[in-house]
Amino acid sequence: MKINVVGLGYIGLPTALSLAAGGWQVVGTDKNEALLEKLKAGEVTFEEKGLPELFAAATNSRNLTFSTVCVPADVYIVAVPTPYLKDSKRIDPRYVSAAVQDVLPVCPKGAILAVESTIAPGTMDSCVRPLIESAGLDCGADIHIAHVPERIIPGNMVYELTHNSRTIGVDEPQTGETLKKVYGAFCKGYMVVTSIKTAEMTKVVENTYRDINIAFANELARLCYRGGMDVNEIIRVANMHPRVNILSPGPGVGGHCISVDPWFLVGDYPDVVNLILQARRINDGMPAFVLERVSELMQQNGINVSQVGFYGLTYKENVDDVRESPTLQLYDCMKRHLATGARFYDPMVKDTLVENQYFGFDAFLDGLKLVVVMVSHDEIKANVTKLQNKLIFDTRNCVSGANVIKL
Ligand SMILES: NC(=O)c1ccc[n+]([C@@H]2O[C@H](COP(=O)([O-])OP(=O)(O)OC[C@H]3O[C@@H](n4cnc5c(N)ncnc54)[C@H](O)[C@@H]3O)[C@@H](O)[C@H]2O)c1
Repeated sequence: MKINVVGLGYIGLPTALSLAAGGWQVVGTDKNEALLEKLKAGEVTFEEKGLPELFAAATNSRNLTFSTVCVPADVYIVAVPTPYLKDSKRIDPRYVSAAVQDVLPVCPKGAILAVESTIAPGTMDSCVRPLIESAGLDCGADIHIAHVPERIIPGNMVYELTHNSRTIGVDEPQTGETLKKVYGAFCKGYMVVTSIKTAEMTKVVENTYRDINIAFANELARLCYRGGMDVNEIIRVANMHPRVNILSPGPGVGGHCISVDPWFLVGDYPDVVNLILQARRINDGMPAFVLERVSELMQQNGINVSQVGFYGLTYKENVDDVRESPTLQLYDCMKRHLATGARFYDPMVKDTLVENQYFGFDAFLDGLKLVVVMVSHDEIKANVTKLQNKLIFDTRNCVSGANVIKL
């Protein structure tokens, strides 16, 4: 079977590499020519544990080629971005629509079109099916559609691609069986075949569940601070209850999943959602809460803004993904209030994203009196001694010492 993976970002690239290393003929398609040039030159396009080794295995298999356009194939896997519209909060399906429209003119009769991108429940019906019909094709006779959402986590993607269970949403059981064979080239997890709409909703529910649970921890952090209580100790003790598992509070929620997907439900069901919307608001409010705490610490300790440094720009530890990151949300909030002058630094980020961004840990620390830990990269945990003479505001509960203040 020949497989065309459309979209070679954080999800599409490891998927294409795994399919090729697993024995299928794979063509990876992306519209970004610069990205394709890098891939053709054998370079990985983002940092991820195990990705270079997976790339080498795919290259050695000689099963993988790259193309800027879609090609005839038996199976198409679409892994393009799915943002939400900022005003209505509904899914913005434009990348999925464009990818499907690129596939349709070249796809042979009987091909499978599997969308891996996370989509709002009903998107395959409201967006993908009409595109197929308007191309004069018949879903089921000419083309078989599927939704196969991805649930891997940046930082452990290669392991999770192999070991996570998968959801395969289809119209006909036979399509499910074929896709089990396709993904079976690398997936050792259980593959459940269900309906398309169930697959769509399940994926969004998984991320919404995480968002709500993080919001609970974040709300606890805020009320414990108000009440003079130690939220981390309270969570540690409460979690000794056999049926309690409270997550860790933090400076906010970022990434292309948890901070995005619950909005699809808010956008489509505005008169029904309540808890989901509150969770989004609580988590989106955390960067501003961190700033309030920083401002208090500055006043209490006579620190001016040029002596404050924010450590970490990515949305989580040990990855280079900055999408929707709490630090960038915090930075925007500072800019809106005309507060500039603080330093920023992240060992994983090589591009300049903000004003006053430093590119070396020692240079960043030099002259700072207050370091705000926004991301628990391994680097900072391994270099706690360099922070000894500074005040540390640790929003990730990752360093300790007499000079450390927690969220
Ligand atoms: N990143 C994650 O951790 C994660 C986890 C699970 C699910 N998802 C979902 O997977 C989907 C993809 O996310 P991502 O993080 O890989 O995005 P990404 O931005 O890293 O990659 C998307 C790629 O698609 C390409 N692209 C866009 N339109 C195209 C088109 N018409 N034809 C060919 N290429 C096109 C872009 O150039 C880009 O390289 C999203 O729906 C996301 O919600 C992401």
